[in-house]
Formats: sequence, C-alpha cells, structure tokens
Amino acid sequence: MDQITVSPITGKVFGALVTDVDLGNLGDDVFACIKSTFLEFGFLVFPGQFLAEESSIAFGERFGELEFGGAPMANQQKLDDGSYGEAFPLETQRMRTNVGNEAWHTDSTYKPVSSKCSMLSAVIVTDEGGETELADMRAGYAALDQATKDRIDTLCAFHSTQFSQANDVGDFPPQDKNSIYHGEAYLRPLVKTHSETGVKSLFIGRHAFGIPGLPRAESRALLRSLLSFVVADEARVYRHKWCPGDTLLWDNRALLHRAMPYEYSKARVLIGTRVAGDPATELAYYPTDPAAQAGRDALVAEHDLLREETKDRRYGATTAAQL
Ligand SMILES: [Fe+2]
Repeated sequence: MDQITVSPITGKVFGALVTDVDLGNLGDDVFACIKSTFLEFGFLVFPGQFLAEESSIAFGERFGELEFGGAPMANQQKLDDGSYGEAFPLETQRMRTNVGNEAWHTDSTYKPVSSKCSMLSAVIVTDEGGETELADMRAGYAALDQATKDRIDTLCAFHSTQFSQANDVGDFPPQDKNSIYHGEAYLRPLVKTHSETGVKSLFIGRHAFGIPGLPRAESRALLRSLLSFVVADEARVYRHKWCPGDTLLWDNRALLHRAMPYEYSKARVLIGTRVAGDPATELAYYPTDPAAQAGRDALVAEHDLLREETKDRRYGATTAAQL
C-alpha cells in the first residue's frame, strides 16, 4: 500500500499534517488509513492538494452523505466564467452569517441531524486574518474536574442559529422554514460520546442555549464557562494559516471551530464540503416530532429577551424591524 506521512501538530493535543497523498486519486486502502488517522487526531491538514470541486465532493462522499459539496464559501459571488465578482457588502445576510461564524461552533447542530465532518480547501487567501481555528472538545472534557463532569453529565442545551446570530451579532434574520433560520431549536446533550471512537467530549458552541432545568443566567454562565475552559489551554487550540491548495478536514462530533476576521473587501475563497451525520447517532428530532415544540417555545422566549439585550450591537438596529 502507498504510505502516507502523518505528522502530529507540534505542541497540540490534536491534529496532524498529512503528506505523500493525493486526495483526488485515493485507493481504498489509503482512504482507510486517512479515516482512522482522522478519527484519532480530530482534524487533518493536507497541504498542496489544490482539490477541484468535483474531487472535494468525491472525497467528502467517502465519509458519508453530503449536506453540500464543492460550494464556494466566499465573500464574493462566483461568476459564470469561474472568476469572482465584487465582495458582498457587510450588511448582506451572507456576510452577517459569515461574521457570526467567527464565534466558536460546530456545524449544523441547528439542524435535525448535526454534521459528521467538514472540509475546506483554499483557493484564494488573504495575507492577514481569515485563519480557521479549531478546538478539541475531547481534551476539554477530559480535563474537567469530576464535579463538573458529574454536574453536566445529563444536561442538554437547545441549538439554533437564530439564537447564535442574535446573541453574537445582534442579527435577527427573517424566519423562513426553508432557510437555516427556520424557527426550530434542537435539544442535544452537553456531553457527547463519539459514535465511532467511543470517546466523550463536550458538545457546545455558539448555537447552544437554554439548558432545560436551569435558570437562564445559570445556563448562560455554564455554557460560557465550559467554552472558555476548552479554549483556555493553547494545546487544545490550533490556528490554521491558509495557503492556496490546503485542504483542512475536521470532525464536527468532537471539535469546535471558528473563522478569524479579515478585511472583508479583500478576496477570500474557500471551497466547502460538509458531510451529514449519521441519523442513528446525530439526530435530535425532526420538526414533526411532538418534542420539537419545546425547542420552538424556548427559542421564541430567548429571542424576545435578546431583541432587547442586543439593541446596541452591530446589526440589531437595522434588522430588528424585520421581525
Ligand atoms: Fe462552521
């Protein structure tokens, strides 16, 4: 079998650089090796791949069904000739959502089935800013004291991107059941056992709110303190400085990630592919489930409070009138 080279990231408890591999042309034995390396390390960096959109899709599909594949995660529209036009204005919903993702999160926890893993491939990068940061929630959970582990063991939180947009950037997009601002909030455990490795991790991030059974202030404080704890140790946080051609793959079931700010008028193009979770292990419930009503109720109550509390934030003044 062709041998890939795996170099653990220096000074970090997770992550590895993988070289001597061509993601656009993978045999089954090499993929099996990548898959087991991915599960162990939580994220993998593959430099110099220059993956075409079709190859990004094909690689993603080896992990499972895609939420989407080969999509430009750009601040600009892709034109028919393959080039990119003007940057979207900062006040567009697209950019508001992008800016919101500068807070720690895990992808698609605001959907009935949360994501298995995500992949980004760099096409155009900025000289400064625009990095992607990752944090290891497995190591974060393992480092908690036993009293905290016992306290959170059976707790859950609702997840909604309407909550996170309001809470992080004072953004209240119009509710639309066909968008990610669909009015549902999905209840997920704070402590997750990984479906493939059996390793426990925290499962939190910007979309999480409203721990049932706790007063609002206590819920907010607990979620904030757990998040702060995970990212407080620099061995649990990795910042990826993009080079064109890089592909980065991470496990949404075990890691947090966020985008770093950059000068938004400058071109930055990453190709994104997101693999859906296995419904057997990543499904909260579907909107038709009677259990979904509690999430809707919690979101409405939370939104009412946030509309007041975020009045002075960047987008609050312009978007609050849309609801
Ligand atoms: Fe993300």
